[in-house]
Amino acid sequence: MTASYDAIVLGAGAAGLFCAATAGQRGRRVLLLDHAAQVGKKILISGGGRCNFTNIHTGPDRYLSQNPHFAKSALSRYTAQDFLALVESHGIAWHEKTLGQLFCDQSARQIVAMLLEECAKGGVEVHCGDAVGGVDHADGAYRVRYGDSEASAPALVIATGGPSIPKMGASGFAYDLARQFGLKVVQPRPALVPLTLPGDDTLFRELSGVSTEVIARVEGKGKGAPAFREAALFTHRGLSGPAILQISSYWQRGDTVTTQFVPDRAEGWLKQAKRDRPKATLRKLLSEDLPDRLSQALCDRLGLAGDLGNLSDKALGAAEAKLARWPFVPDGSEGFAKAEVTAGGIDTRGISSKTMEALKVPGLYVIGEAADVTGWLGGYNFQWAWASARAAGLAI
Ligand code: FDA
Repeated sequence: MTASYDAIVLGAGAAGLFCAATAGQRGRRVLLLDHAAQVGKKILISGGGRCNFTNIHTGPDRYLSQNPHFAKSALSRYTAQDFLALVESHGIAWHEKTLGQLFCDQSARQIVAMLLEECAKGGVEVHCGDAVGGVDHADGAYRVRYGDSEASAPALVIATGGPSIPKMGASGFAYDLARQFGLKVVQPRPALVPLTLPGDDTLFRELSGVSTEVIARVEGKGKGAPAFREAALFTHRGLSGPAILQISSYWQRGDTVTTQFVPDRAEGWLKQAKRDRPKATLRKLLSEDLPDRLSQALCDRLGLAGDLGNLSDKALGAAEAKLARWPFVPDGSEGFAKAEVTAGGIDTRGISSKTMEALKVPGLYVIGEAADVTGWLGGYNFQWAWASARAAGLAI
């Protein structure tokens, strides 16, 4: 027997839970399906278990998409302050960590519990643990088979996310379903992901575990990307840390990533230091700003030993320029296995920015990470999940 609903939401992650709750509270009969045994698994591991649930600096410029204006409407109609008000109404204590990033004081579990409570208020039927066997559309209704059951509804919401971290149940299911209904997909690629360096770039190996604040930039096809001032971390395979994760979303194969070491030093600082402290060494100078191992490795690479007073202004100028744009040429990334999000996804040029409904497929909606909207690191991806979910939840 086929059970009928007003809407079926596929995927009980951040976007699916919030969309189902919103529609349910408007009186819609909603079925929320997930193949995982439990809802909101990515929320639970997010922000180191404390969930960086939004960012107070959210704006469309913090997102990547082939259709850059698409996210504006939903983001302006459901803001970080709106989500924060919901968090506070559930008595969840929070704090701003840095750069506008809001985290739970206690646990990401509170966010999942809050979303489930909101779903319960809306009478949402939540079903976990069965894979979706197939979807078809006839006579204005979507029919979904899952486990031994079947359900139908005039509205179907794709909220199954992207393929990042497949071992957590992430899949490319959203794209297969989108293609089944004639929607286009922008080539998905790992984003917010550590970058790997070729074996002959030995700097990173010596420095594995060292972290320092840099300004990271990308040169090449990704030129024009913003510069990110945050920590970079050397790993045994290459580069990671927030600055690198941010720039990885813009990096394309063949591009150079540059890191500006000692970002607080004004132009001409090495020549000035030569005049002020001619007996100091470059290593001594760098170690005032950088971890010791890094200072040593950079000095070795620059080949500048001895007192500053004995080094030419030209050599110091060249060293300063190199320190300001130290080049790394990644040979790849750690891939979907380690990517925090997926860039690309269902092409938003085929979707209404007001309702998230496919323009040519009435009743089919796309929300969250499944769509080609990718946020920076720092709570922006959840804010997109909430905002797009809200837009669809108010429309179905
Ligand atoms: P999401 O991936 O959350 O949910 C999709 C759901 O669909 C899952 O429950 C999955 O099981 C289900 N599904 C998949 N295929 C299916 C199928 N075939 N049938 C049925 N169900 C299916 N962002 C942020 O803003 N702040 C943060 O702190 C973090 N931290 C973070 C840490 C880590 C380790 C990761 C991997 C990611 C983050 N993120 C983040 C990113 C954030 O988790 C992500 O952008 C959102 O979870 C996206 O929400 P969605 O609901 O779109 O997808």
